[in-house]
Order: sequence, then C-alpha cells, then structure tokens
Amino acid sequence: MRASRWRDSERIGDGLPGRIAGVLVCLIAAFHWTAGAALTMAPAVPPGAPEPWMNTALSPDARAELLQAQMTQNEELGLVMGYWGAKGNLYSRAVPREIQAISRDTAGIVPGIPRLGIPPLVETDAGVGIANGGNMRAGDEATALPSGILMASTWDPQIAFSAGSVIGREARARGYNVVLDGGMNLTRDPRGGRTFEYAGEDPLLAGTMAGAEVAGIQSEHVISTIKHFAFNDQETGRFEFSADIGEGPARESDLLAFEIAVGRSEPGAVMCAYNRYNDVYACENDFLLNKVLKRDWNYPGWVLSDWGAVHSTVAAAEAGLDQQSASGFDRQDYFGAPLAEALASGKLDPQRLHDMVHRILRTMFANGLMDAPALLPSPDIDAHLDLAQHEAENGIVLLKNADDVLPLSKQVESIVIIGGHADLGVLSGGGSSQVIPIGYAQLFQGPEDRVRTVPRDGRVFDPPSPLTAIAAEAPEAVVTFVAGDDIAQAADAARHTDAAIVFATQWMVEGYDAADLNLPGNQNALIEAVAAANPHTVVVLETGGPVVMPWLDKVQAVAEAWYAGNRGANAIARVLFGAVNPSGRLPVTFPQSEAQLPRPELPGKGLQNVPFDIDYFEGADVGYRWFELKDLTPLFPFGYGLSYTRFRTSGITAIGGATITVAADVANDGPLEGQETIEAYAAPAAADTDEMPRLIGWSKVDLKPGETRHVSITSDPRRLAAFDVLRHCWHIEPGDYVVRIADSATESGISVTVKLDEKDLPP
Ligand code: BGC
Repeated sequence: MRASRWRDSERIGDGLPGRIAGVLVCLIAAFHWTAGAALTMAPAVPPGAPEPWMNTALSPDARAELLQAQMTQNEELGLVMGYWGAKGNLYSRAVPREIQAISRDTAGIVPGIPRLGIPPLVETDAGVGIANGGNMRAGDEATALPSGILMASTWDPQIAFSAGSVIGREARARGYNVVLDGGMNLTRDPRGGRTFEYAGEDPLLAGTMAGAEVAGIQSEHVISTIKHFAFNDQETGRFEFSADIGEGPARESDLLAFEIAVGRSEPGAVMCAYNRYNDVYACENDFLLNKVLKRDWNYPGWVLSDWGAVHSTVAAAEAGLDQQSASGFDRQDYFGAPLAEALASGKLDPQRLHDMVHRILRTMFANGLMDAPALLPSPDIDAHLDLAQHEAENGIVLLKNADDVLPLSKQVESIVIIGGHADLGVLSGGGSSQVIPIGYAQLFQGPEDRVRTVPRDGRVFDPPSPLTAIAAEAPEAVVTFVAGDDIAQAADAARHTDAAIVFATQWMVEGYDAADLNLPGNQNALIEAVAAANPHTVVVLETGGPVVMPWLDKVQAVAEAWYAGNRGANAIARVLFGAVNPSGRLPVTFPQSEAQLPRPELPGKGLQNVPFDIDYFEGADVGYRWFELKDLTPLFPFGYGLSYTRFRTSGITAIGGATITVAADVANDGPLEGQETIEAYAAPAAADTDEMPRLIGWSKVDLKPGETRHVSITSDPRRLAAFDVLRHCWHIEPGDYVVRIADSATESGISVTVKLDEKDLPP
C-alpha cells in the first residue's frame, strides 16, 4: 500500500466508514478555507462621493454590485464579448465599425460603457514584453525581456516580479489595461513550440515564477492573465488534441502549477486553452473552469477564451467561460447575439450573465482600473533595459566549463565569433509574444552589407549584438565575426584565433513544435568543425528549449543563454568574461535523445485538422520525475547549472509534522562571489516506493568568498500530498520521507529522513 501512496489516490479506500470519515475531514477543511472569503461587509457610502461605486472604501465586490445594478442586459452582453484589436486585417469583417474605430492595433479589445465610466478593456500580448507581432504598430519598440524559460532559470521570484512590473508599466504607458501574460504550461515535451514562453517542467517552480511575474504586472494596475488553462503542452494539433489524464495526476502536475500561480498573484483573468482536456474543450470544460478553478480554488476573476477557442454558447457559458475573446477568430460569435438569444429563450439562466459581468467588474475595481489614471507617463526605458540585463545575467545557465576555460581572460588576443547572427543581436521567439525590441529599427540602418544580413524570414534579433558586447568586454582583443554558413571558412577562421565562440540558435515559433531536438541546419556540423580547428571552443546556445549536443565532448564550454532579450548580449559577454558569475539553473531536463521521452514520436505529427488524443500516461511524473522513474540518465538534469566558484552544503537538518522544513549551511569555498541555489527534494522513504522525488522548495543566496549562510526551506504542504479524488482533498500520507538538498534533480547531495503526520488539505 505505502509504495503507491501518491499514485493510487483515485482507488477506493479502506471500507465505507473510513471513506465517510475522510470526506467529512475534507469538507471541514474546505469550509475553513472559504469561510473568510464570504465575510465581506460593505461600509456605508460616504456622502458626496460622485458615484456610489467609486467609493474606494468599499470592497471590489460591493462596488461591482452597485455598478452592475445600473446596467442594462445589452450592456452586460457587451462586456462579455471581445474583438480582435487590430485594424484592417482579415478578421475585420466580423468587427463592427465602431469597434474598429477604437481598436489600437493590439491583441484584443472589449468596448467599455462610457455612460457608466467603464473603460474599454484593451488587451496586449506580453509574454516577454509588450508584443507587436509583425511590427503592426510600426516602430513601437518595447523592452524585450528574456524568454519565460530564462526567467524560470533564475529561480528568483523577485526577478520575475520585476520583469512583470516592466511589462505592467510599459503596458499602461500605451493605454493597455489587460496583459495576456502569465504563460505557464508545463514542459511535458521539450520539443514544445512555446517552451520558451513558459516556466519549465516543475509545477512548484513554474507556478511560483509565473505567479511572481503576474503579481509584478498587476502591481502596476494592469490586469494579467495566466494561460493556457490547461494542458496546452504542445503546439502540434493544439486546436484538436485532447490531453487525457486522470484527475489525481492532473491536480498534482499541470493544475498544481496554475493553482500555485493563482494563489500567489490572483491574476485578474485566466485564459482557457485551445485544446480539449479528457475530450471536452477547455473553454467549455465544467471540471476545469467551474469545479477546479472557481469552486475549489475560490477564483474570483474571469475566464476569457484563447483567440479562437470557443465552440458553443450555452455549454461554454454554463461550464464557466465568462468572456469570448477576439470575435472573428472563432467560427462564429458564440456570445453576443447568440448569448442574448439563449437568455431570451430561457436556455441560459440570467444569473450566469450576471456572474460573468460581476467577475469582470470586480476585477477591474480590484486592480485599480476604475480608479488609477489609465495612462502612465513614459516609463524609464534605460531602467527597464537594466532590469532585462539583470534578469538575463541571472538566468544564463553554464552547462560545461572544462579546464575552467571560462571566464575568458581579458588578455586573450584574438577571438572569432561564429554564427547565430551574433553581429546583429540575440534571437527571440516568434508568435503572439513577439516584441519589437528597443533599437530594432537601427538594425535596418547603417552599412549596407550589415543591413543585408538582417534575416527576412520573420526572425527578430534583439540588440545589441554579441559581437559588440564581447568586443567591449575584451577591448585589447581582435574580435572578428563569420556567419557560419560556410563551415570550412568558419573552421579556418577559428584555427587562427586564441578562442572561438559559436552562437548556435534554434528559432521557435508559436503554432509549431520542433521536429526534433537537434540544432537546426548545419549547426551541429559547424560546431564539430570549429571544435576540431580550435581547442578553446565555447558554444553559446540561443534555444527555445532543450537541444541535444552530439559535439559536447569536443567543445570546452557551453552556456545556455535561451532567448536573452534586449541587452542579453551584454549579459552573455559579462558571463563569458567573468564580470558576472553564472547562477542560472535548468528549469527543464535536457534529454540525450527523443527516445528518452514518454512519447518519442510527437503526438499528432503529420495530422491535419484531425482530432486526436494524447495519453499523458506518465501522469504527474513529468520531466525529471519521468527520468527517475525510468532510470534514464539525461544529458543535463533539471536544476543543473555551474558557477565560477565552489559551494559546499553541509549540516542538513529537517523538521517534519504538518510539512517539511529543511535547513543546511551553505559555504562559498571558491575564490569568487557567487549565487548558489539550494534545491530541496523529497520522496517517501520506503525502499519499494514508486513515488518519484519532488522539488519541495529552494533558496537562492549570494555568498562572498569564504562566507557561510544558514538556509532554511519550508515546503508548500501540497507538494508533499497526493490528490485524493474520492475524498476530494489533498492528503499527506503519514510516515518517513527522505529530504535531499542537492545541486540538481539527479545529484545525491545530502539527505535526512523526517516524519510527516497524516493530514488533509482543502482541494
Ligand atoms: C495565443 C495566446 C495569445 C492570443 C492573442 C493565441 O493564439 O495562444 O497566447 O494571447 O493568441 O494574441
């Protein structure tokens, strides 16, 4: 029995009396959880306030009720129907002229109600900064932050919060009050096309980091949206597939990530996904929207659909969808007139419309949209670029550093930089999150031969260029660049320099998964040839997610820089030359090959518009837990990352009981200041357990040479529990657990055994 405590949570319990008692315990816990939320009392409206709902002493819910009482049903219907926000595009046929007149060339718009002072909701994508796909607002450059996976690699929620606040300020300066950012689908497959937008494979890490970013956005009085709820973990067949997974493992993996983010940040909106979950479209999925999100998590905000993710009127409304986004993307308008008809014919209870509107209005009040000035003065872009660089400096992951070749000596006399358009900038990911970065226009100015090298295939490079940033770090060196298309020429150039730095890229774009885990094109061969020509070859990866490295043994150093954003080049150069001691840790496992994945063949490959199922048979054993379960050795494990200094962790102690608190001393024994991330993993102690270790917490600390710090980490108890479907609660099985502090998911580190009490937690 004990061996499968986390896995068999859906199995019938030990006899009826036990089960009844269990349900009772869970219900009591759930009551305590929600009781506080119900007790909001509205104070009296002070005399002289312009409109009663503008009284900021009232709760957002009370204000929403007062405002809603003034609204006609038509006005209510207007607030639950969104439009594509771009002018003059192929969808404009569906957009009434008056909406086109107010659209702002952005992702979406929901008209306001001027007579009641309700502003329009103006939505922008902002996965890595204020998006401007296809440069549709010509010349609107914004701070291009590093990609989501780089943010997750910092393991620093404060940095994620700062990144969010950059987005919030730049959104508000443009008059956007809803940001479609907070992407956090789990990396179940490293080929996933949007891996770069998300926060990795672990629910605790992803939920914590994405939640912190959302909180940062909303700290600027801009509503944020976590997405894509839920299980939109690959792009292939995203409109068609059904992710099939039982409730217990679902709650312990992808849903837990969302639950943690919702708890940390109360995002104003949740975007339901394109795909189906257990056969039912996410945007009409009663289980996901009503039962999990709104009932169990007490979520007070609203659910808006992804662009083209709605398939019904009454079914979607009853399942918990609160707003159809971007009319014209769906096959037809399902809200708007059809919703009015459903209400008139009695097919839909008007209370549901009331609830949809209440959720939108109370969120607008809660985030200050009705009170704070809509527009901010121009933000301090230099400060934002500094933050972007700081994030990149904390999220670049050093994967290999043989013979301490890095940091490179500033005395090095000649360096050749090869490939990756490193003379232009660092690569960014494509799709709805695409930012036109600060300094982009300058790429198209200047010497003709340079301008000719700017790719015209949609790839956007964020300035400045690694070439200039590296030249600035090594002012005495002769730094040259070769494009890398001609392998022989690149190898020849490398043969005659002290060091060769190859920039290898993998361009990922929303809507497409990577065909495989190889660097595209000739890049593997290029690296092999350069490494054969120069013993001091360093590879800088600019990839959306994990890649394989058949040349790993032949190069001296590898740094994963992801898509590092504006000033990412400066961060890379500072890591390479030691101005920054690298501290990023992998938020995903790098496999040795596709054969190690739960589904070596990407599901749905080759299918066109055909529904198909993806059996998530690995359940909650995602990423490193899958590798552990199958006893597979990855290329690089989750949590891995090198430093230029040496850390030592000792003296582990732990306290059990209701949760685990683990502590240890961490010392910097090396010659340089640096940041160490102490990762804590736990698993049942039973030798025959089939429960894989879980990350239960971490702490990132800065240590001077010779310094020692005592670090303590307390687990979120849900991370120690299984979701008991029958009793509808989280359940911690009593017994011994091994807690390990280690440098990665595969390192044995130091460990201690601790006892946990039996405990139920609300769902
Ligand atoms: C994407 C969303 C995005 C929306 C609006 C969709 O295709 O999946 O992430 O927010 O478009 O641009």
